[in-house]
Amino acid sequence: MNKRPVVAILMGSASDQEVMAEAGKALSELGIPFAAHVMSAHRTPDRVHEFVSQAYENGIRVFIAGAGKAAHLAGVVASLTCLPVIGVPMTTSDLGGLDSLLSTVQMPPGIPVATTAIGKAGARNAGLLAASILAVQDQQLYHQLCEFRTAMAAKIHSDDQSLQQQEWVARQ
Ligand code: RP5
Repeated sequence: MNKRPVVAILMGSASDQEVMAEAGKALSELGIPFAAHVMSAHRTPDRVHEFVSQAYENGIRVFIAGAGKAAHLAGVVASLTCLPVIGVPMTTSDLGGLDSLLSTVQMPPGIPVATTAIGKAGARNAGLLAASILAVQDQQLYHQLCEFRTAMAAKIHSDDQSLQQQEWVARQ
């Protein structure tokens, strides 16, 4: 795992780590090297500025940014780079993640953030979406992603076959 990272996974707090690990898992399954860091748009704004402004030169091609509550990390990252930014809203105890979702998704025109679903499902999709973005210029990765979809479809078909054999369905 010494390849140069092409995806940067950023999170506003260590408390976001369990969720954001899902993005890392998806990237690892596809063999995409990534870096992951805790940095906060409001607690460590200088660090965010420093990291993001040097990222393109350092080989980063896609950002994934996860944050909760007044979740402006993804928007701030997007303001500092022309690379694609995927925002992952964290679930929150007060508002269930609706606060994070709206803070991440409602970017004014000019500075886009591609926002996923709230929580772990969103973090996994962020990893897969980052892979799709990279696959635009990488045929092998494109085919890997298509195989992923085929495997998911095969699982649904086999789950349906199993369901048909369940007593409560078969007796109809
Ligand atoms: C945000 O505030 C973080 O992204 C996190 O989701 C939330 C709470 O942070 P902690 O108080 O757990 O550090 O900045």
